[in-house]
Order: sequence, then C-alpha cells, then structure tokens
Amino acid sequence: MSAVSSHTSTQSSGNNLDPWYGNYAARTAGLAASEVRALFAVASRPEVVSLAGGMPAVSALPQELVTESFNRVMAERGSVALQYGSGQGVPRLREQILDVMAMEGIRASADDVVITTGSQHALELVSKLFLDPGDAVLAEGPTYLTAIVIFKSFQADVFHVRSDEHGMIPESLREEIARLKGLGKRLKLLYMIPSFQNPGGVTLTWERRLEILEIARDNGILVLEDNPYGLLHFDTPPPPAMRSVEEDGVIYLGTFSKTFAPGFRVGWAVAPHAIREKLILANEAAILSPSSFSQLVISEYLETVDWRAQVDRFRGVYRERKEAMISALQEYLPELSWTDPQGGFYVWLTLPPYLDSKKMLPRAVKELVAYTPGTAFFADGGGHDNIRLSFCYPTPEMIRVGVRRLQTVISGETDLVSTFSSGAPVPLRSASTSFSAPPPNLD
Ligand SMILES: Cc1ncc(COP(=O)(O)O)c(C=O)c1O
Repeated sequence: MSAVSSHTSTQSSGNNLDPWYGNYAARTAGLAASEVRALFAVASRPEVVSLAGGMPAVSALPQELVTESFNRVMAERGSVALQYGSGQGVPRLREQILDVMAMEGIRASADDVVITTGSQHALELVSKLFLDPGDAVLAEGPTYLTAIVIFKSFQADVFHVRSDEHGMIPESLREEIARLKGLGKRLKLLYMIPSFQNPGGVTLTWERRLEILEIARDNGILVLEDNPYGLLHFDTPPPPAMRSVEEDGVIYLGTFSKTFAPGFRVGWAVAPHAIREKLILANEAAILSPSSFSQLVISEYLETVDWRAQVDRFRGVYRERKEAMISALQEYLPELSWTDPQGGFYVWLTLPPYLDSKKMLPRAVKELVAYTPGTAFFADGGGHDNIRLSFCYPTPEMIRVGVRRLQTVISGETDLVSTFSSGAPVPLRSASTSFSAPPPNLD
C-alpha cells in the first residue's frame, strides 16, 4: 500500500479528493475557500461591475514617474536592488516612513520600524508572535476579513466588540473584556482599524481612541492598530493615530498599498523595542528580507516625486467615487441605511433583516454586479443583512450602474420573500445608525 493510500484509509471523511487531507496541521482548518470566493471568480468577468474588491485606483498614479524611479534604481543601485537585504528593511526607507507617519501624529525612530511584505504580512508576524490556540483577539464588529483568517489560522478565537458610526464603543469593550475574563480566556490582542475602517467606513473618534487605549492598558491587552487608509481622507483628516499617544502598548501597521501601489508589497510595523526585535527575527525566519528592489523604488519615489501631492490626487479620485456611490444609493435604494465614510474605500450597507446578502449574491452576479456579503467580516456568522460596497476601483459611471443593478437584485429578492411569507407585505427597515448587531451570545 502506498503512503498516500494508507494515509487516506485512516480518514473518517475518506471521500475527500485531496489525498493529503489528513496530514494538514490543525491550524489550517479555517483555510477552506468559501463559496463566495468561487462566485468572485465569475464576478471578475469584465461585464460584471465589481463593488466587491479593495483594489486601489492605480491608474491615478503617473506611471512615467514610477518608471523613472525604477530606472534610476537599476542604473544607480542595481546590484543592491537585486540582492538580499536586511531583515528589518532598508534604513533610508525606514527614515522616510517616519515622515509618512508624522502626518498622522506619530513620532518614532527609524530603529522602531520593521519593513514587511505588505501590512498583511505584518499581521501574520504579529499573530505568530502572540497567538496560541484558544487565545482571544478582540476586534470591531465587523472587521477586516483577512485579519480574521490570519487570527483563526493561529487557532485564536475572534470576539467582536459592538461598534457604531463613531467606531468601537468603549463601554461594550469593557463589558466584553469582563465577560471573556470571566470565561477564563487569555486576551492577547485588540485589533483596531481606527480610520475609515474596512469594511465599515467609520472612524473612531479621538475621545474613544483615548478611552480604548486606557481600557487596553488597564487590562494588559496589546493594541494592534492597522492603518492603511488614514491618509486617504476626503475633507478633514481623521484624529491622530492611536500610536501617537501610546508607544508601549501599541503595535502600529502601515502600508504603501493604498497611498502608492500594492504591487510593490511594502508595508511596515512600528513596535515597542522588545517586540520589534522579535518581529525582525520572525521576518527573517519567514522571508529572509523584504524585497530590496521594491523598497529602493519606493524610497526613490518618495525622494524625487511630490508624493504628498499624489496622495492628494488619490483623495480627489476616491472622494468623487464615494460621492457617486452615496448619490446612487440615495436615488436607487433610499429606504436602506448605509455609512457615509469621510475617507478610505468602503460603504457598509444595511439591508432589511429578512434578506440574506450571501444567499442573494448568485442573483447579483447574474445581474452583473458583485459585492462582499457582510458575513465575511464577522467571525461568528453575524452580518447576514449587511453588504460591503467598495467604491475604490470602478469609475463613478460604473458605480451608478452597479448600484442600479443592486436595486434590481434587492427588489427581486424582496418580492421573493414577500411571495413566500403568505403575501404579507414585508416592511423595509427604516434608516438607522446601527452599525453592527449586538455581540453574539457565545456562552
Ligand atoms: C485593514 C487592512 N489591513 C491590511 C490590508 C493589507 O494591505 P497590504 O496590501 O499592505 O498587505 C488591507 C488591504 O486591503 C486592509 O484593508
């Protein structure tokens, strides 16, 4: 008997087509591709208006300036760019990152910065350093989909804290901490996206930032502040970053993906001294060193291009798209409620409670519009009557087309529900400010 067949014969679910099914580590249990992912493959067809992804509008970047940056890097520092580098990242870029972060009130030293392969990679490294199976991570409800995937891949449990249009509610955080402590959980991380949150589009107020930092400090919980969108405000900047007031209890994550281009895959972490040392070791263990080429091109771009003006151009592009989305929602779906982000990429839409956004998705794709169902952003099955709509990538015209198609989908689905509820009229929920469902009962 071959190793493979002897292995499969011991599996309880012997009909699995993957002969290595039983060999995977237990932590991969959450890595199954969802049916939503399968639908997205269909949704990537050009005739589908996708309001689903978080792809930045890289077409708004002057490509000739980027080309000049990498031509210069290759001409002047080619042998460095093509070589392995330091596990902490290129020193000059780490200094330049200080200027980027200063725009959000952060003062740090270049020594505190660790460059990673996008902030996604930093999330993975921090999780690797802190999470054991069964540990608890607290996060906004809803929160960033792929952060949930990472935390779960380290077999941590994610608990959502109630949020509203001003971000996480401090009192709900206190209650959730007390509840989890009562259950004997080890509370390791408080994961926050304070500015123009993904997926909610909401921004945590300054007062709440301070209060939440105090709660975390009092309870010995490390804050993981993930801030990809903070510089992409439309009119007024968000409050200063949480890291600007708390150095010892916060790991801060930044990225060039949204303010420059995600293709370079360069992000960073700023961490208290001891954590930073471990992050560098973990970075080296995972990838030896971040891409020298990408770092040098970004460094050259920051040095030679007016990158602040470019960030401003991005703001203009996203502001116009956000306005197109809000006005299309007002026109086509006035009976629903949604968040009105002041920056970033996303609007969070609330459907009538009898609709299920995940079940509705195949109908949407048939109508040539795609969105991300709210359930993707909860670890506990919440969000069935929510949708995340992204306005970052499609043009304003396509956003209008997409929202109009969404109206067709929603009214078709509502008719279906009406038909199957003995013909009784189904009320549409009136506009509300509620951002998330109450925390689930996990007892
Ligand atoms: C909240 C949040 N964190 C992290 C990331 C990952 O970004 P990066 O491209 O830097 O890995 C994203 C990307 O959309 C995001 O929205």
